[in-house]
Amino acid sequence: MSEKLVFITSRIPQIGLELLDKAGIFYRQWPHERKITKEELIENVKECNILLNIGSNQLDEAFFKACPKLELVSLLSVGYDHVNIGAANQYRVPVTNTPGVLSKATADTAFLLMLASSRKALFQYKKILDGKWQKNVPTDILGIELHDRTLGVFGLGRIGLEMAKLCKGAYNMDIIYHNRNRNAEAEEILGAKWVNFEDLLKQSDVLSVHSQLSKETEGLFNYDVFSKMKKTSIFINTSRGAVHNEEDLIRALQDGKIWGAGLDVTNPEPMTADSPLLTMPTVAILPHIGSATVETRDEMARLAVQNIIAKINNEFLLTCINP
Ligand code: DGY
Repeated sequence: MSEKLVFITSRIPQIGLELLDKAGIFYRQWPHERKITKEELIENVKECNILLNIGSNQLDEAFFKACPKLELVSLLSVGYDHVNIGAANQYRVPVTNTPGVLSKATADTAFLLMLASSRKALFQYKKILDGKWQKNVPTDILGIELHDRTLGVFGLGRIGLEMAKLCKGAYNMDIIYHNRNRNAEAEEILGAKWVNFEDLLKQSDVLSVHSQLSKETEGLFNYDVFSKMKKTSIFINTSRGAVHNEEDLIRALQDGKIWGAGLDVTNPEPMTADSPLLTMPTVAILPHIGSATVETRDEMARLAVQNIIAKINNEFLLTCINP
């Protein structure tokens, strides 16, 4: 048995707990369905050596300062915009995440939202729920097709690459992308073309955001940016809601600057039920379920716990953000 104690901020797939048990690692788990508050998180973690964090709990400087026993933060997510990495470094706490294992599931979600927006699928579904499925008129509530169109990927990393593969394979879409670095794999296997940001906006029929949230990307997709996109285009965001300005997105859709949107992430999150976005036929929204499949969540839990076991055994961390 290890004398290290792990705190887990919510329920996790059983495989994660089994791995901890098998390794003889003690853990405490937040027992409530509601999200843990900042104060409760500190109260619990200050007694522990390792935090297994699920979701967007803000791990800021005050948190690291208040938890002197902390030796590792293992995130059950690929995104780490909620962690102050500078403070983690200052307090010498390594932070690990779960990249790779969720790329396909998250790309599937982007693809699903793209289709749902293009065919007004959620709006049509709501019609049935509202008892408004009466007759089909050939000119009513038409969608648009995506075959042979252009997919623009903003942030072509692992998830963006999977989305590009889906769009190429299913719809023979041309792939353009904007990134700090060129992606040789995408260029080679998909014929993807790097373009500057302005060209990405001008040329994309579907623009899918897969970048991290950072100072450079926060609020980047605003009214001005939407105004430069094609009026027939669809904006997809499965990364972080704060990359787009939601008021501006609403206005851009109302003014016909773009045709539709598919969001797995909103700004703020959770979104309120009175958002005008929820009544727009060409908008499809999901409640941040990008990686939510049985297979992927198992793999995320496995990887997060493997990092914990590695830390306890003084071994190399598999996916450390701040080595
Ligand atoms: C991730 O893994 O970053 C997902 O968006 C969940 O937060």
